[in-house]
Amino acid sequence: AAKPGTAGLAFGAIDPVDRLVDAFTVPEGYHWSPIIRWGDPLFSSSPALDFANQSATAQSGQFGYNNDYLDIIADPSGKTGVLVANHEYVNPGIMFPPTGDPAEKQRRGEIYKAAQGMSVVELRRRAAGEPWSYVVDGERNRRITVETVFELTGPAAGSDLVKTAADPEGRWVKGTLGNCAGGTTPWGTVLSGEENFNGYFAWAADTAEQKRYSGTSTTTTETGWEAYDPRFDAHDADYVNEPNRFGWIVEIDPSDPTSTPLKHTAMGRMKHEGANVIIAEDGRVVAYMGDDERNDYLYKFVSKGRYTAATSTGAKKKNQRLLSEGDLFVARFTGNSPVGEITGGGALPSDGLFDGAGQWIPLTRDGQSVVPGMSVEEVLVYTRRAADLVGATKMDRPEDVEPNPRTGKVYVALTNNSARGTSSPLDEANPISGNRFGHVIELTETAGQAGETFGWSILLLCGDPSKTAYTYFAGFPKELVSPISCPDNLAFDSEGNLWISTDGAPGTIGYNDGLFRVPLEGDQRGNVQQFLSVPREAETCGPVIHDREGLVFVAVQHPGENGSVSAQTSLFPDYGSTAAGSVAAPRPSVVQVWHD
Ligand code: FEO
Ligand code: CA
Ligand code: CA
Ligand code: CA
Repeated sequence: AAKPGTAGLAFGAIDPVDRLVDAFTVPEGYHWSPIIRWGDPLFSSSPALDFANQSATAQSGQFGYNNDYLDIIADPSGKTGVLVANHEYVNPGIMFPPTGDPAEKQRRGEIYKAAQGMSVVELRRRAAGEPWSYVVDGERNRRITVETVFELTGPAAGSDLVKTAADPEGRWVKGTLGNCAGGTTPWGTVLSGEENFNGYFAWAADTAEQKRYSGTSTTTTETGWEAYDPRFDAHDADYVNEPNRFGWIVEIDPSDPTSTPLKHTAMGRMKHEGANVIIAEDGRVVAYMGDDERNDYLYKFVSKGRYTAATSTGAKKKNQRLLSEGDLFVARFTGNSPVGEITGGGALPSDGLFDGAGQWIPLTRDGQSVVPGMSVEEVLVYTRRAADLVGATKMDRPEDVEPNPRTGKVYVALTNNSARGTSSPLDEANPISGNRFGHVIELTETAGQAGETFGWSILLLCGDPSKTAYTYFAGFPKELVSPISCPDNLAFDSEGNLWISTDGAPGTIGYNDGLFRVPLEGDQRGNVQQFLSVPREAETCGPVIHDREGLVFVAVQHPGENGSVSAQTSLFPDYGSTAAGSVAAPRPSVVQVWHD
């Protein structure tokens, strides 16, 4: 039966779907279809995907691979709009058969460069509330790739730490890498987090700063760019700083395909999951950000300037500089229960909650470093090292961090951490040994949205409640909720309900990843209900909840990632259809869901 909740999206929860099932599953009465798939042409001059004969030229005019962050931004008419998606990475093993030929590897490397980055695609529909179609040759259509030029902004732009032989000014960077989650700003631009950029470089890793981002030294990468493009070889003295030019929050303007996208150094360098912006009481802009690595940190950026609500071009240009100047903070969580009550097994402490207080510790103020022994350029380029020095709290892989637009409370998805309790100590904010299923923290700013103190409590301890005793759903009866594991991306509907998409459920609770709704207020608070499930080996990304129109959108990335060209494990979304443009391989796609 349909559960109470968002009027436009009443649904009965679906059952969890076994991890070997290659199907996209929605609730009874709902339908789904892809809006756009990997390889669909954005321009009439681009061909449809020819799976066996892909080329870099074709790919540079087609929708990219592995879509992660997604937004669907309607124009005022409601009949046109724009889709923005991140293309986080490629899965070479299911795109091409094995080869040892260096020339073929280079040809494929150029395809990978064109398949990554971002896409902007115009949408249209007959009437507001209906499902969307994408527009070939839309005026705003754009592909951003590993060769698109970005402008570095903020205090680390122009510093010696970001100069290379090709960019002696340290101000112009070719490309964006590992674009994971993101956020759409109140001024209509899209922020995107450069996350696992480290995987695209052969690393010398001969300094502590490099090691903090790369782990160990390496000589080869999966995309193979370092074999023929020296900027991906950090052993090359001319490009030793090239990795320092990635790991930023980037900002693109989807309304102007000729605009130069920005990389904001003031927001720090890490494996940025994404950034989500809210306007503080005094008009300053606050961005929340996670560094997705085991035992890394949660960050907050507060702009110096104030948001201009006008929609003129001048106001927009001014707003697009807000993230270039401001203060960067890292979070320290303090529990309020005795340390001895945090046992690692998930038993609630005697006060009945995993909760406490917290502090935003400054790393920069007024454009200056406040970290002893580090310049502002060093703090921003080697932000992880700076945060290590000020006693920030090591977290269980912070993914999406998103403020609820209705309440200003901030939700932190902590996806999992096999090292918790071993390489990092247990604490009340990260209380599960080897945290396999992840958790979600609810954070309440106690000195205003831009302030420096907060309160917090754990909203969810994820897992399958029929199998894991410690699971916790804000006190809601656990026999009534859907199993959920590895929370990743977050979104809110118009009523303020939290929506969570997951990445990692197959390997932890044995079900395919999915999308879940969680009411945050009233007697339904904590009632996790599964809305959809993605195909085999896929991750659920995006999510965009347009509940007033009865529409939900997700980006389905890496379906069938464990297969091969000769033995694909997923055929999503075409499933052998004879429709034009279908291919016998999985295609990462943006999917829309609507009801009767
Ligand atoms: Fe690309 Fe942290 O997920
Ligand atoms: Ca407590
Ligand atoms: Ca993610
Ligand atoms: Ca989000």
